[in-house]
Amino acid sequence: MYLVTGATGNVGAHIVTGLLTTGADVRATSRNPATAGLPAGVDVVSALPGRHMFTGVRAVFLNPATMHDTAEAFLQQAVEAGVRRIVLLSSSSVLDDHPANYTGILHRDLEQSIAATGLERTFLRAGMFAANTRRWVPQINAGGPVRAAYGQVRIAPLHERDLAAAAVRALVSDDLLGAAPVLTGPELVTPAEQVRLIAQATGRAIRFEEVEPPAARDLMTAQGLPPRIAGSLLRYYERALSEPIHPTPVPAGYDRDSPRGYQRWISDHAAEFRPPAP
Ligand SMILES: NC(=O)c1ccc[n+]([C@@H]2O[C@H](COP(=O)([O-])OP(=O)(O)OC[C@H]3O[C@@H](n4cnc5c(N)ncnc54)[C@H](OP(=O)(O)O)[C@@H]3O)[C@@H](O)[C@H]2O)c1
Repeated sequence: MYLVTGATGNVGAHIVTGLLTTGADVRATSRNPATAGLPAGVDVVSALPGRHMFTGVRAVFLNPATMHDTAEAFLQQAVEAGVRRIVLLSSSSVLDDHPANYTGILHRDLEQSIAATGLERTFLRAGMFAANTRRWVPQINAGGPVRAAYGQVRIAPLHERDLAAAAVRALVSDDLLGAAPVLTGPELVTPAEQVRLIAQATGRAIRFEEVEPPAARDLMTAQGLPPRIAGSLLRYYERALSEPIHPTPVPAGYDRDSPRGYQRWISDHAAEFRPPAP
């Protein structure tokens, strides 16, 4: 039995599907198990930490988005219940000591807590998600340009399905045991180029407009992103200017289509960027 936290989300849903494909038994957490909408056969339980969720579980996928001061209790219960392995969705930001890097600090603390349990572990240090560009949809639907900072910085956005494929590999095999790979997409692309690819995939006329980082931060927080997360994302771009990103994608063969570049991501998600129905 594998336990997937954050199973209804961007990465977790693909991990659930990937595990089911291997024939594994899957338990999944959600704050709303009744409406989680996960595939038949998945044992969906409440996300509130409790021993019930670990019964019979061999390995856990831990998504930090589901942890709020509950990580220590979660890990202690996992150890007590006999869980053998934790696979953490961490970030490459753990390698950046900058104080504005809130996400990196959070993930580094989690990595240390997991290491202290002595359990088998894998830390998947994900780079910038391709899915972050979903934040641009409201600006596009408002008819304006996409306003963002660091338009010419080269990043290698990570498709959630590649990350999920790595997570499945880390859960069911020993290939990534003890490893902490930095995972990115296979190709470098700038935010301005991403906007061009969105325009191409959707047939919409969309322009990119570069704004200064403080203005970009205001745009992100106006959309509801917590300021510390907005700051971490901007810091990721800023760092990529001085420390260029060298893509470290998941190997070909992790699943049928890996690794996937941004063009593949926007092709998979083009419908989300098309105009809403009138
Ligand atoms: N964005 C990036 O570029 C990036 C890069 C590296 C690492 N990361 C890390 O990746 C994680 C996000 O992964 P994701 O995109 O797969 O997550 P997600 O889709 O945002 O969330 C996963 C699930 O977690 C639950 N959840 C969401 N917000 C929650 C909250 N405030 N409290 C409790 N549960 C919550 C929801 O499930 P229910 O509603 O069913 O409970 C949601 O479906 C974050 O920890 C982030 O730091 C992100």
